[in-house]
Amino acid sequence: MNTLSKYALILAACTGMLSCSNNKTVRGNYGIVPLPQEMAEQQGASFELTPSTQISYPEGNELMKKNANFLSSYIKEATGYELPVVAGVAGKGINLSLDKNIQNPEGYKLAVTADGIQISGETEAGVFYGIQTLRKSIPTAKDANIELPAVNINDYPRFKYRGMMLDVGRHFFPVDSVKKYIDILALHNINTFHWHLTDDQGWRIEIKKYPKLTEIGSKRSETVIGHNSGKYDGQEYGGFYTQDEIRDVVKYAQERYITIIPEIDMPGHQQAALASYPELGCTGGPYEVWKQWGVSEDVICAGNEQAMQFLEDVLAEIIELFPSKYIHVGGDECPKVRWEKCPKCQARIKAEGIKGDKKHSAEEYLQSYVISRMEKFVESKGRHIIGWDEILEGGLAPNATVMSWRGMEGGTEAARQKHDVVMSPNTFVYLDYYQSSDTENEPQAIGGYLPLEKVYSFEPVPEGLTPEEQKYIIGAQANLWTEYIPTFSQVEYMVLPRMGALAETQWTDPSKKDYRSFLPRMIHLTEVYDRLGYNYAKHIFDINATLTPNTESGMLEISLLKFGDGDIYYTLDGSVPTRNSIKYESPVNIDKDTDFKAIVIRPNGNVSRLFNEQIRFNKATIKPVTLKESPSKGYTFNGASVLVDGLSGNENYKTGRWLGFQGKDVDAVIDLKTPTEFSTISFNTNVVKGDWIMGATSIVVKISDDGKTFREIANKAIPVLKQDDKDGLYPQEITFESVTARYVEVIIKGSKLPSWHGGAGSDAFLFVDEIVIK
Ligand code: ACM
Ligand code: ZN
Repeated sequence: MNTLSKYALILAACTGMLSCSNNKTVRGNYGIVPLPQEMAEQQGASFELTPSTQISYPEGNELMKKNANFLSSYIKEATGYELPVVAGVAGKGINLSLDKNIQNPEGYKLAVTADGIQISGETEAGVFYGIQTLRKSIPTAKDANIELPAVNINDYPRFKYRGMMLDVGRHFFPVDSVKKYIDILALHNINTFHWHLTDDQGWRIEIKKYPKLTEIGSKRSETVIGHNSGKYDGQEYGGFYTQDEIRDVVKYAQERYITIIPEIDMPGHQQAALASYPELGCTGGPYEVWKQWGVSEDVICAGNEQAMQFLEDVLAEIIELFPSKYIHVGGDECPKVRWEKCPKCQARIKAEGIKGDKKHSAEEYLQSYVISRMEKFVESKGRHIIGWDEILEGGLAPNATVMSWRGMEGGTEAARQKHDVVMSPNTFVYLDYYQSSDTENEPQAIGGYLPLEKVYSFEPVPEGLTPEEQKYIIGAQANLWTEYIPTFSQVEYMVLPRMGALAETQWTDPSKKDYRSFLPRMIHLTEVYDRLGYNYAKHIFDINATLTPNTESGMLEISLLKFGDGDIYYTLDGSVPTRNSIKYESPVNIDKDTDFKAIVIRPNGNVSRLFNEQIRFNKATIKPVTLKESPSKGYTFNGASVLVDGLSGNENYKTGRWLGFQGKDVDAVIDLKTPTEFSTISFNTNVVKGDWIMGATSIVVKISDDGKTFREIANKAIPVLKQDDKDGLYPQEITFESVTARYVEVIIKGSKLPSWHGGAGSDAFLFVDEIVIK
């Protein structure tokens, strides 16, 4: 039997306290996240964990004593009883030890027999991860005996860098919350906490030499409401960490084998510092701590020696506070408009002999100058810099590590240049993005669409690299930017359970990863979330639906899947399902307008969130359709059928309900299968001007009886959108004298970005969802 089906058996044998607590013995479950590299259940008898089981550690090893105390406290969280911690070797207990034969410095072995539990690691960190595994395998079962099946686990991480970032610049989270975040990281075997400490909207760390950074820079007078609505809340907002607090948090993290990498973002994202010390900016200000979101054009003046000294002084204090090998210097999103006009910056460009070329402007090389100078400084203190992928522009500083966030391309290029890389692409691990397409029922987020499965599918090592180059990918990280995350409870909601998917990518060998195996283990981990009171997103308990157009039958097939106990019930008339509704047994086929709703009802009466789909049929729905030009990479989803699947999109263009085209027409040929009469064609476009998505500019309709020779029957021009036209859905329609035909070709043209647009002259995107023929 393979190991995966063994977990399934354990899961089936005892899914929690309900089914097993009568005899007061509850079985453990090794189906955990991240999945261990090697696990073999053994034939022998189980170990029985009771309130008198002892935890031992090697005498005199304070770190191991701490580890033993962690384990005791974790077991108390699950069972309510506190196991005694003893030095030496506990006979039939849990023994923690070091074993130099274990190869990976974070690897561990966990062996359970009837006679005891042995957790060993090459280092104390390895033992800590063994403890996390045991902790996750122990069920929540107050005052019960725990039966742990005999097992041998041999486990170690895939990547040595396993990171998670938290932005405390946009919203501030106090020390207790940050410690809770660190606890959450530890539960997921994450060993690096990237702490984004400063931004345009707030400076959050005390710097002794520059007291105004916190006196002034840590407070903004108010905050914009929503997505830069132009309306403000009128509430002063602020907060910062004293250096004593920082030291306390660093120690707290160290005890949990987590390194904190501090980030001071430079030379952009510095408006809070400029508000404190206006002489550091190109114009001299005045500046205010920014009250809105986005990227400020006011940045540190790269031509001002005093500003360079400021950055070094700040880094000097940061290096004193944080023992990490890496110091993050940001480097992202630094607009160059001030530098282009600033006499000091231009004088620096001249003095340094910097010249623009085809690849980069002089100002981009100037940014590279600043980062390289900071690297020299950081290296002089025995540390290394890490920066966002923009530090590639204008040339990488010699020892810089690159954090690739604008997709994987920057990281791929850096690895080719033999620089270490942490992959952190927004396409897979920006946890500030929506985790559901049903955005109306989510807390407001920055945008995007990043469900659990997408995070799980993240593979940090790009295929195009040689094995030698691949070695430069030292790990992976997810980021949590907090513009739209004002509370720590919402932080928890955004990172959980997606951090589970991240953890498995960071830890487990990709050959062992499988989403279907992950889901039940992820649900198992929520048992630990529940006992710790974490506010996690519950979408994994929702119905997982696959909607498949079948052009043979002309029907939309709805296939539903759930994880955990209970039955699915559904309705076709728009009413909310109950236990009396139709019980789901097999896929449902839809061939007319239907408001489909479904729920899972659990044995304890709990009900999942409602699955809700409006399916609308017209003469084109579920008909064969082809596209003459392909949608853009990334916005192709299920291909042409998206245009006639009976499913409309909402304003989020990334949900798979829209196809996106750039520089290409939507040129769709629909086969109505029999000669059909119609006189109207309509569709929506989805406009998000800031994302380069504009509307349609013309529609042409052609018809054919044989699918080969088409003749045009109607066309229409549509005015290009103006700067103050709203974003959102734009319904378009073309009507004509009724015709009868079997084949219909619909050509929808987009446009270039108009002169008022920041990207003027480039091809705009055009997003279309359903083509409706009536
Ligand atoms: C970033 O998201 N600006 C690194
Ligand atoms: Zn300047």
